[in-house]
Amino acid sequence: MNNMELRTRMPGVGTTIFTVMSQLATEHQAINLGQGFPDFDPDPLLLDEVNKAMREGHNQYPPMPGIPLLREGIREKVKTLYGHDYDSTTEITVTSGASEALMMSILALVHPGDEVIVIEPFYDLYNPVISLAGATPVIVPMQAPDNEYPTYRVDWQRVRDAISARTRALIINFPHNPTGINLEPDDLDALESIVEDTGIFLISDEVYEHVVFDGAEHQSLCRRKSLAERSVVISSFGKTYHVTGWKVGYCCAPAAITSEIRKLHQFNVFTVVSPMQTALARYMADPQHHLDLASFYQSKRDRLYNGLASTRFKPVKSAGTFFLLADYREISDMPEADFSKWLTIEHGVGVIPVSAFYRDPGAQDANHGLVRFCFAKRETTLDAAIERLQKL
Ligand SMILES: Cc1ncc(COP(=O)(O)O)c(C=O)c1O
Repeated sequence: MNNMELRTRMPGVGTTIFTVMSQLATEHQAINLGQGFPDFDPDPLLLDEVNKAMREGHNQYPPMPGIPLLREGIREKVKTLYGHDYDSTTEITVTSGASEALMMSILALVHPGDEVIVIEPFYDLYNPVISLAGATPVIVPMQAPDNEYPTYRVDWQRVRDAISARTRALIINFPHNPTGINLEPDDLDALESIVEDTGIFLISDEVYEHVVFDGAEHQSLCRRKSLAERSVVISSFGKTYHVTGWKVGYCCAPAAITSEIRKLHQFNVFTVVSPMQTALARYMADPQHHLDLASFYQSKRDRLYNGLASTRFKPVKSAGTFFLLADYREISDMPEADFSKWLTIEHGVGVIPVSAFYRDPGAQDANHGLVRFCFAKRETTLDAAIERLQKL
């Protein structure tokens, strides 16, 4: 490289375990229940809407914050479901997936020297972006499942204890990937009391807002006025309408915060793919399309859960998301990453080790004998995987 100096902006970031596991699954012709995307098509009606939008001429730059019809649709949905009435002109922004919304929110709110609290296990985007902003992630581990309590849970006292004079923001993600846990109303009480009288911003990754099971209601942070006024609430059409590859999402936040996010958004992507915005706006006008999602995925969750219960895995009931965890300690005492690779290569089913969502995946306290299965798959895919796992 002669005398050029190439310095990485993201030290410690390499190929993610998701890519590694997916490649391994392809190489070994494994059924991929690892990565979180549907293996089925979206509603043809939605595809027709895209085609129609293109033919109608929606092919040039749309407005920077998103087309008004889509922002109005988001406003209406959020108001109906969670009771908070965002101003669609100044408080709602359409983004390139939830990923862009997350990155722009972190970069807009967090400054060098700040601390940002992140709950572990966590989605892989948060920490590298916090570091990119010059800030420090402060990790608060969840309580892992044990004999007494079968699912992960957040200890809010530990979150409270992690706050310092430098805490700028808290990132939360419910329904939670990978653990499949949700917030209850008393969690919102805890959050309200934790941030009261502080200057802490909340960045709420709610991409699985419509995938909540057993009749529970999603507890969006914008349900509470005191939380909404300090929160960026983020969601993804990819997850809701089985179009993860379109990368269209949005964020809702008070006008002053939105204004800062939009400054970054305009020089990052400027705006988001035009015909998809028109199509999504028309499609979401029928609320049944998002309201039916929970029961659609609940039957897939039950199919996978019951199937795994007929194997030597011990499945953990998921309360939301596309994912459920299963305990494999009756089968093996390998660390989670080794077990996941072994399962993919030797038994033809790709999964993700839960330890991949920890800061130090090799650490003992990141390994609880758990792997993550994705059930956003056709029933035939789920059944074929179960059949293979029954042979274990
Ligand atoms: C928790 C979480 N946040 C954000 C994203 C990214 O969403 P998008 O594809 O809309 O950028 C994902 C996707 O897997 C996710 O699981």
